[in-house]
Amino acid sequence: MGSCCQYDSTICFLENMLTAAPVSQGISKPHLDVEGGLRLSGEITVSGAKNSALVLMTAALLTQEAVNLENVPDLSDIEGMRKILTSLGVRVNRTNNSLTLKADKLFHCQPSYELVNGLRASFFCIGPLLSRLGKAQIPLPGGCRIGARPVDEHIKGLKALGALVNVEHGVVSAAMRGTNQRLKGNYLLLDCPSVGATETVLMAAVLAEGKTVIDNAAQEPEVQDLAQLLNTMGARIVGAGTKTISIEGVEKLHGCNYRVIPDRIEAGTFLVAAAITRSKLKVSPVVPEHLSAVLQKLKDTGCKLEIHNESITISPESIHAVDITTQPFPGFPTDLQAPFMALLCTAKGTSVVTEKVYENRMQHVAELQRMGAAIRIQGNTALIEGVPQLSAAPVVGSDLRAAAAMVLAGLAAKGTTRIEGLNHLDRGYEALEKKLNNVGTHIIRRAN
Ligand code: EPZ
Repeated sequence: MGSCCQYDSTICFLENMLTAAPVSQGISKPHLDVEGGLRLSGEITVSGAKNSALVLMTAALLTQEAVNLENVPDLSDIEGMRKILTSLGVRVNRTNNSLTLKADKLFHCQPSYELVNGLRASFFCIGPLLSRLGKAQIPLPGGCRIGARPVDEHIKGLKALGALVNVEHGVVSAAMRGTNQRLKGNYLLLDCPSVGATETVLMAAVLAEGKTVIDNAAQEPEVQDLAQLLNTMGARIVGAGTKTISIEGVEKLHGCNYRVIPDRIEAGTFLVAAAITRSKLKVSPVVPEHLSAVLQKLKDTGCKLEIHNESITISPESIHAVDITTQPFPGFPTDLQAPFMALLCTAKGTSVVTEKVYENRMQHVAELQRMGAAIRIQGNTALIEGVPQLSAAPVVGSDLRAAAAMVLAGLAAKGTTRIEGLNHLDRGYEALEKKLNNVGTHIIRRAN
């Protein structure tokens, strides 16, 4: 998938070297102290999917009626999206883990750069705002540590539906042509099965005039969840979850109640936590078919899995090396590459991990090496020689999933591992240390 990008990974690597914040700067930062060597047991709860909830929130812009989303995780990214939507005029109220959103009075078509910067998902507002208001101006989401994260496929999709789109001064401006108040359905072939671009085009097409076909569409469960929500709101979408999605535009969408799917990446992270500590653990709720590639790889390492409708119980025995190549769904998810690599550092034998989705998603390797992992990197491929035991060290999680990988490695290391980078971790894992401590770990969050 990285082939979609024209970005030079060397530049990305050098940028990261310049900005990487070594732990030993002598400045105390919020961190976790993770005690290694403990066994887990019992049942751990999975929250709603961050990467679904974020885009479902923006879909509420497509109607003036209230959209009530259940099972929305309490995460900093969700709070960031709430601020962005509120700044546009959407009323957002949280009751426990439900959010009610009402976009009956939109008074802005451009969220501020301060709010948008650092939350890539904010770009999902462009399709719905264009459909609702006939125009939208969204600051370009910056690149990040894992890659350039361009939005060229999103822009190509909006242009295919008849929008005028240009990028100036770091802002993407989209508008209807002439006095048209509706986009026009069209056939669109994506260069790569981009999750975000598929979601942007879905939300632009549902109120367009006529039929839209998205070819080479992303098949991720989060795309399917969005299509399911939109159909519950009155849209006419078929084929979500396959490479070809068809959308018959409608005049109007209505409000509804909808439950967000469980977070497959959080579930996968918990399964790896059990495997790396050689513990038996029940993980629920989970949709097993959202994790098929990961479950297969866990079985290949030697873990026994009891798979039920909404839960998975993992019983690891000895862990053997396996090879992983990340791919778009239904392949092995890039978001579990770092967590799974932590497991492979303690496996018997040599594993090969290849990152094919992002051009620079190996930041966690240097930190795992500080913990005694035997890893060699060649471009986007890591060769991992399993070691009998990792050793605790002060480490930094440089992005959301790298931070999760550090926690997992800390659970298996000898000693107590200090992990910084909680600003990343808290973006995607709800009450992580509380959930893990409930099943036997000893993790303390410290302010400095
Ligand atoms: C979503 O990002 C997720 N984020 C990511 O999760 C996830 O890693 C990714 O999908 C892949 O599964 C959210 O849903 C908020 P893409 P997205 O568009 O939509 C290239 C996490 O840790 N590309 O499928 O941005 C892009 O550079 C995050 O939870 C283009 O070239 O992913 C990348 O190499 C990280 N042009 C590849 O496609 C475009 O216009 C995948 O990107 C768009 C993407």
